Amino acid sequence: MSSVPALATVVDQRLAEALGAARPEAAGADPLLRRSDRADFQANGMLALAKRLKSNPRELATEVVAAITTGGDGPIKDVEVSGPGFLNITVTDEAITANLAARAADDRLGVPYATDPGTTVIDYSQPNVAKEMHVGHLRSTVIGDALVRLLEHRGEKVVRRNHIGDWGTQFGMLIQYLIEHPDELDHPGGTEAGEAAISRLNHLYRASRAVFDSDAEFKERARRRVSALQTGDAQTLALWQRIVDESKLYFNAVYDRLDVLLTDEDAVGESAYNSDLPTLARELEESGVAVRSDGALCVFFDDVKGPDDRPVPLIVQKADGGFGYAATDLAAIRDRVGVLGAETLLYIVDARQALHFKMVFETARRAGWLPDGVAHHLPFGSVLGKDGKPFKTRAGETVRLMDLLDEAVERAGSVVREKAPELPEAEIAERATQVGIGAVKYADLSTSRSRDYIFDLDRMVSLNGDTSVYLQYAYARIQSILRRGREQGITRAVAHPELPLAPAERALGLHLDEFGQTLDEVARHYEPHRLTGYLYALASHYATFYENCPVLKAESPAMVENRLLLCELTARTLRQGMSLLGIETPERL
Ligand code: ARG
Repeated sequence: MSSVPALATVVDQRLAEALGAARPEAAGADPLLRRSDRADFQANGMLALAKRLKSNPRELATEVVAAITTGGDGPIKDVEVSGPGFLNITVTDEAITANLAARAADDRLGVPYATDPGTTVIDYSQPNVAKEMHVGHLRSTVIGDALVRLLEHRGEKVVRRNHIGDWGTQFGMLIQYLIEHPDELDHPGGTEAGEAAISRLNHLYRASRAVFDSDAEFKERARRRVSALQTGDAQTLALWQRIVDESKLYFNAVYDRLDVLLTDEDAVGESAYNSDLPTLARELEESGVAVRSDGALCVFFDDVKGPDDRPVPLIVQKADGGFGYAATDLAAIRDRVGVLGAETLLYIVDARQALHFKMVFETARRAGWLPDGVAHHLPFGSVLGKDGKPFKTRAGETVRLMDLLDEAVERAGSVVREKAPELPEAEIAERATQVGIGAVKYADLSTSRSRDYIFDLDRMVSLNGDTSVYLQYAYARIQSILRRGREQGITRAVAHPELPLAPAERALGLHLDEFGQTLDEVARHYEPHRLTGYLYALASHYATFYENCPVLKAESPAMVENRLLLCELTARTLRQGMSLLGIETPERL
């Protein structure tokens, strides 16, 4: 296994060397190399540099060109000055094919590991116990899962944290109701275990809420039950555990359906930090980071004010002694940085919680628990209905995640059946799941994280356009070419860098060569949509190549081999890229 430097990296180095040779005072300057339509690459760095050196950019560019060695065994075929002082650079066909062959020889497609891997804790999914998961949890789960896979692929140590909402005053009501109606959780539900669990919990939630709202004495008993829970009363805790377990059954059914990596071990919820909270509050108070205000323990910020210009505090402990959401998040930071040794903390949470995280991070920083630049809230936008409003059912209720996934799989089923009506039902069902779940994930991941998007199943399972199905078909089609080749005894043994490349081959080859850089950027910015964009462009380049360049019927056996190399590498790159997004690529579709 060895990593393969991208041609862009090699060219960039050659340019930097030439720059240093032409003008020693320019050593270390960035040539600003980009892919370009006019040549293979364009470097724009001479403009800013000339300004800095107070010289003419075209003259500077001309000097750099003179200092570059073209030909020989280097990758640069041609450099020319254009416009106000850009450099247009063309690489040799030989360099392209040789690079592709080196990638194909490597399991990781030549993609390097991160040079400085560390430990990253990713806080994602985070559903609430005894409640349905909704589309907000879908986004967090899908984005978090992709980031886990992407960072692990770079050799980063990743700790998954599913910060489930498993603590709070709402449990007083649920547990008290269970005590008074011991058969409640035996209420029959759906047929699947997960479905049955959530339907029992929904029933419990509604029934207890109704009594809570109408019966003042029950309300008082529920309130006392909260205290019993907080002081660790055994019977109360046992019932709490029962509710949590029931919920996990449901969460796991959703995770299973979604095909994400989360397991029970990753579910370290709010309750996990209970025993840390009293000490944490004491330390914050003693250090003066938090102060008492009307009995509550608060942290104030100069730049956080309410509508009436009064400061809005972060409440660490309520006046009644109870701890809430903020205290738990502070304890989690201490654990993640101090005990787990994380250098990076990522929070995949709805944009509406931006202020919460801003205050929590600042508090932890003041307390000395969180070094600068470690914690990042990665906010995401909302999922909207076709009317552009928050996604709701016709009756105005939040959409149940399971229903939505089932519907996606069903729609995908009709697409699959239409394409291959002769398939046995079991196979249609399997592919429908791969296509339907992939479609939901891809639509989410291909939207830049902070933007809202419209949940439109028709578009998501469309065979045309920027969808996962389009990419899955591209992959399956390549597999079928490779299979047909094998049937005819045609396989690839070696590459032939000496053969000239057609324009569509060069374009595809240069794009394939950018895979590693793309993954690097995705990981640096935590932006999976850059990878979907890359993969979509890859499938498009492949389509053009396929239209213009016969593969198995190419002019010569050597050309067949070169084209098979392009096919094989495209397929492997698609498969690897999709798998880093958590999306399957069936061999046949
Ligand atoms: N359970 C919360 C909700 O559904 C999200 C938790 C986010 N993570 C965190 N560490 N606060 O809104």
